[in-house]
Amino acid sequence: MYNSRKKFEKKLTLLLQDPNICQMRHFPQHKSSNTLKHSISVAKLSFSLAEKFGWEISEEELVKGALLHDYYLYNARTEDIPGYVHGISHPETALKNAMKDFHLTGKEKNIIRGHMWPLTLFTPPRSKEAVLVCIADKYVAAKEMSIKPAKKGYSYRRSGRKRRAGARG
Ligand SMILES: [Fe+2]
Ligand SMILES: [Fe+2]
Repeated sequence: MYNSRKKFEKKLTLLLQDPNICQMRHFPQHKSSNTLKHSISVAKLSFSLAEKFGWEISEEELVKGALLHDYYLYNARTEDIPGYVHGISHPETALKNAMKDFHLTGKEKNIIRGHMWPLTLFTPPRSKEAVLVCIADKYVAAKEMSIKPAKKGYSYRRSGRKRRAGARG
């Protein structure tokens, strides 16, 4: 494996000392998280996926892009923004905010801008790092929203029909 977990964790620790990044903890995210916790989970999963896929990545750009991918800095629940509009517009808002507070490479900018693809059809991820964050974000979001795969027999029980005592299969 080419990637250095030590380098990844060092950069993560460093960025988590930045008050600009820490302010994300004030904004809720999905059902059970806040934007800071969510972004840390996305960063960690993105790195784990890189290891799993055997992809050589830039650890520092991956961490920074992942931590800032949702740097939109508002409460999506209380703002008067329809969910779909938030979904397609927040990557650009996050990028605009991040560019004010941080120096970003082109790759980091694309990680932020492309993380909602394919919803944002014309801004696809253009690097391995951006693809990893795009995938990890969806997985972490689904977990935070407690989406569970339907189990066998789920629709049967939900239909209101009762199983006969002793019935199998
Ligand atoms: Fe997002
Ligand atoms: Fe996200």
